[in-house]
Amino acid sequence: MKALITGANKGIGFEIARSLGKRGYDVLVGARDANRGQAAAEKLAAEGISATFIKIDLNDLDSLHTAGTVIDSLDMLVNNAGIPDSVKSGRPALDLTKHTFDYATEDLRTTMETNFLGTHELMKSLLPVLTDNAKIVNITVPISPTDFWHPLAYITSKAALNVMTLTYAHEFKKMGSHRQIFGIMPGAVATELNGLEPGGLGGFVKSPEAAGQMSADIILCDRNQNGQIIQYDGKIITDYEVQLRD
Ligand SMILES: NC(=O)c1ccc[n+]([C@@H]2O[C@H](COP(=O)([O-])OP(=O)(O)OC[C@H]3O[C@@H](n4cnc5c(N)ncnc54)[C@H](OP(=O)(O)O)[C@@H]3O)[C@@H](O)[C@H]2O)c1
Repeated sequence: MKALITGANKGIGFEIARSLGKRGYDVLVGARDANRGQAAAEKLAAEGISATFIKIDLNDLDSLHTAGTVIDSLDMLVNNAGIPDSVKSGRPALDLTKHTFDYATEDLRTTMETNFLGTHELMKSLLPVLTDNAKIVNITVPISPTDFWHPLAYITSKAALNVMTLTYAHEFKKMGSHRQIFGIMPGAVATELNGLEPGGLGGFVKSPEAAGQMSADIILCDRNQNGQIIQYDGKIITDYEVQLRD
């Protein structure tokens, strides 16, 4: 069984790759940077995991289209790669103090292009090589704003990704396909994306290792999860328009 995880050179993606690899999957380590991707694949291989780097840059259409030609067959696609905002000081960063009205159109465009449009293009490229029972997993976040949580560019792009999850699920069901697509919300995880530490926010912040294992548990669950958005604790989020899912 073969799984491609995007953004697998670090953070949650690396740990999902590690968990799936330890459970017997051949993992394709998707990364936009060859050096970082190769290094991650070698680290996994040193643990006895079958791991191969593949270039996946969500902002580079050629890399997305090439993936569909070099992969012969795929049982699982984990769309994990993502950014919270446009690039600042050389790297993306989640800024929860930013006001909604301070977002530039460029912030929204950059995040939407990466998290939504790039992912959609990769899905289209890989659909022909996905097996009949393949699972597609979109790593996502809550989209309802609160006093603490209102990063406009990030949640707008993930809302689009969530709707894509629901519409693909609808198509699969309508076609009588056994393929599944679902979303996983890992909750707060200590990664470079947010600079948080494990145990932070009153113990709420998980380590990437814990998030990777939890995600793999949900991914490998035997239940049909087509069209579901599933929280880290297994709770299914039901705020979306039900007709889209049913
Ligand atoms: N951390 C959290 O609390 C949390 C919570 C819920 C959901 N998530 C989601 O989990 C996913 C992974 O996030 P993380 O926390 O593990 O962050 P991270 O450590 O910053 O990892 C993000 C990954 O995405 C890759 N990436 C960024 N832009 C890309 C592009 N244009 N093309 C291909 N790959 C790209 C990064 O590659 P480089 O190393 O080359 O930058 C990196 O491998 C994201 O979708 C995020 O929205 C995170």
